[in-house]
Amino acid sequence: MTTEIGTDLQKAALLLNNHELVAIPTETVYGLAGNALSEKAVAKIYAAKNRPSFNPLILHIAHLDQIEEYAVADKISLQLAHALMPGPLTLLLPKKARVPDITTAGSSKVAIRIPQQSLTLALLSAIDFPLAAPSANPSGYISPTSAQHVMDGLQGMIPYILDGGHTTVGLESTICEVADDHLILHRAGAITAAQLTDVSGLTVVHTNAHALPSTPGQLKSHYAPNTPLFMGQIQSLLNEHEGKKIAVISLATKYEGVDNFILAPDQQLSTAASQLFATMRAIDKGQYDVILSEIFPNEGVGIAINDRISRAQFMFK
Ligand code: TXA
Ligand code: MG
Repeated sequence: MTTEIGTDLQKAALLLNNHELVAIPTETVYGLAGNALSEKAVAKIYAAKNRPSFNPLILHIAHLDQIEEYAVADKISLQLAHALMPGPLTLLLPKKARVPDITTAGSSKVAIRIPQQSLTLALLSAIDFPLAAPSANPSGYISPTSAQHVMDGLQGMIPYILDGGHTTVGLESTICEVADDHLILHRAGAITAAQLTDVSGLTVVHTNAHALPSTPGQLKSHYAPNTPLFMGQIQSLLNEHEGKKIAVISLATKYEGVDNFILAPDQQLSTAASQLFATMRAIDKGQYDVILSEIFPNEGVGIAINDRISRAQFMFK
């Protein structure tokens, strides 16, 4: 199969109507999309990514009023949706029967989001089903933030990549679930716990939080480059890795005697977030022995940045 990159919405809609896959831009990362109500299309998503069948997919919709077509929404979830969607937020809700079990990997819950990306919103409005879309990378590798990244990983596996340029946010959406009297944060992202609390009045409990890299051996490797990556205090890491060809990822600091990959000359964490994955991919092509990364300020989107870098750390696979 040849894979084409373009901006033809009609072509994308036609493919999706025929149970084919199309990679789509969102504000976070590119998604690998198929008709979420079609078992045939969803099976193709798992196959193309080589994704384990137990890992559920996010439903992408265009309008707030579609949430209740696919999920049972409580008052607080709707409040969060109205305040923060479209945007980099995914809500986990009890699913309705019309969402096939394969889409949620057998779970009784469904994850739903409205991406803030004009091409993809137009595409969603042109079709009459939601799109199931995991990040458009082979399972285990870094999420794509450009059409070319998708091509690098999935060339020959999918017919079309809708090109929306570089994504703006650059990290996957925040995943949130409303529990009785609190919110559960399943994945940190650009929508912060503070924002969720502001809107809902509820406190946020983090699950699965690996914000700091104290125990790399216990971390699940996600989003990982092929080059071994270590996160921590750069001077001491440099001492440990003396003599190697080293790439250093930093917010704004330049280190001596290494190749520097500065994510945010403006020192803004949002800039760093938007550059992180493209930078990891670029370093991975550069034949470095090792990647060393700073720990970023653990506030705002810095929490999500630290989460992604710590999950990318080297472990024996
Ligand atoms: O920003 C994003 O969310 C991107 C873009 C493409 O929308 N998508 C994305 O999808 O990151 P993916 O599949 O790479 O990550 C989705 C995460 C997975 O960790 C999955 O386990 C979780 O969402 N998830 C989805 N449905 C779930 C469910 N029913 N229960 C628990 N977790 C769920
Ligand atoms: Mg992913």
